[in-house]
Amino acid sequence: MSTTSYIESNRDRFLNELFEILRIPSISADSAFAGDVRKCAEKVAEFLIAAGADNVVLEETAGNPIIYGEKIIDASLPTVLVYGHYDVQPSVPDELWNTPPFEPTIIDNKIYARGACDDKGQFFMHVKAFETMMQTNTLLCNIKFMIEGEEEVGSNNLGTYCKNNKEKLKADVILISDTGIIANDCPSIDVGLRGLSYVEVEVTGPRIDLHSGVYGGAVANPINVLCTMIASMHDENRHITIPEFYDDVEEVSAEDRAALGRIPFSLDDYKKHLDIDDVLGEKGYTTIERTGTRPTLDVNGIWGGYIGEGAKTVLPSKAYAKISMRLVPNQSSEKITEIFQKHFESIAPAGVKVKVTPHHGGEPVLTPTTSNAYKAAALAMTETFGVEPIPTRGGGSIPIVALFEKELQTKTVLMGFGLDSDAIHSPNEHYGIFNYFKGIETIPQFFKHFAALSK
Ligand code: BES
Ligand code: MN
Ligand code: MN
Repeated sequence: MSTTSYIESNRDRFLNELFEILRIPSISADSAFAGDVRKCAEKVAEFLIAAGADNVVLEETAGNPIIYGEKIIDASLPTVLVYGHYDVQPSVPDELWNTPPFEPTIIDNKIYARGACDDKGQFFMHVKAFETMMQTNTLLCNIKFMIEGEEEVGSNNLGTYCKNNKEKLKADVILISDTGIIANDCPSIDVGLRGLSYVEVEVTGPRIDLHSGVYGGAVANPINVLCTMIASMHDENRHITIPEFYDDVEEVSAEDRAALGRIPFSLDDYKKHLDIDDVLGEKGYTTIERTGTRPTLDVNGIWGGYIGEGAKTVLPSKAYAKISMRLVPNQSSEKITEIFQKHFESIAPAGVKVKVTPHHGGEPVLTPTTSNAYKAAALAMTETFGVEPIPTRGGGSIPIVALFEKELQTKTVLMGFGLDSDAIHSPNEHYGIFNYFKGIETIPQFFKHFAALSK
């Protein structure tokens, strides 16, 4: 039986099994869900065993377990390491969902659920593609699975696991589906990801909350101060004003910029989709360049003072913000965090104290388009989409990609199938049934081409 007819005849089961995974709220950020996280890991392990994997284990870490499994068919054949993550972002605010976040629902040929696209729907395509290759005798490479449960909280324990298991994880390429394509009729492969520095800041004014009339105008209001400080970190061209921030930014070559310029993109559709009347970003760069090739600084959350019902006249003692900086080659997350801290402390006016607490970070990466693995992915997508994929740069981060390179000396191919409009991390996250099956169909073609090109 061909892979396509096997997939066709198991369509409903492939969907129902994904739904079983989607029903488990494996939210890594919230310790209240630790039991569900483990339950999800166990379920993934079960599905890997059922698909035909050997030596499937839950590898315990200081945090959430990593699922490992493999099928070694012939030591002389190339080995593909499939990486994915079974943890998901919190679903809150749940009231903004049209359907329950952990009860997968199909509407208009899309699966609505937290994790549908990021990344349960995408890593599970690999489990089903593997089953397909096993059942149709078409597995032409060795395969190793490593599915982790802490990607959405910074993959803190995966680096150590990789370092301690170099031999076990040895592979010729790392294959990841955790990114997207431009459109269903316009496939693409991300060849870059941004890095990340994430900090939390605290500004303290007076010792206690004060009456905003009795004291207002005479002492620093930490929320006012924090807003001024944040605003000062961009100039009128939306350039970041932190000294040395751009020092290591690699300028994109004219040739690469021209290629980015050829990527099909409608600014009108983009604005319409987001319900905004204009875009805003760094002067001199297109929207595609801004998200793919330029570093950023964004407030992710800001709080302090009185936010309950009605009005309370209060001059707060403290203000807080969570700030992310997306990084591009060759910026270093550690260095950027350091210069942010120095700068933030230096711009604090007299009358407040500031504290900067670094959170997780990650390094930016570029992946080669000249490797056999990239060529295999491009050939596979060309076969299943009927058009050649375009190399693009993703604006998000998968910090482990740079770590894989460092710890395992292995390069990654980012063969993702999501769409920017899939609302990952947002309410009503969804994944197209088209995309799910396109992935399951394309992955065996990758294995076929990678085996052939590796000969
Ligand atoms: N799958 C995403 C990253 C992504 C999405 C890359 C779309 C490219 C295109 C991943 O799960 C993610 O959300 N990563 C986090 C980083 C992490 C350290 C919290 C991110 O980018 O915010
Ligand atoms: Mn992801
Ligand atoms: Mn994510």
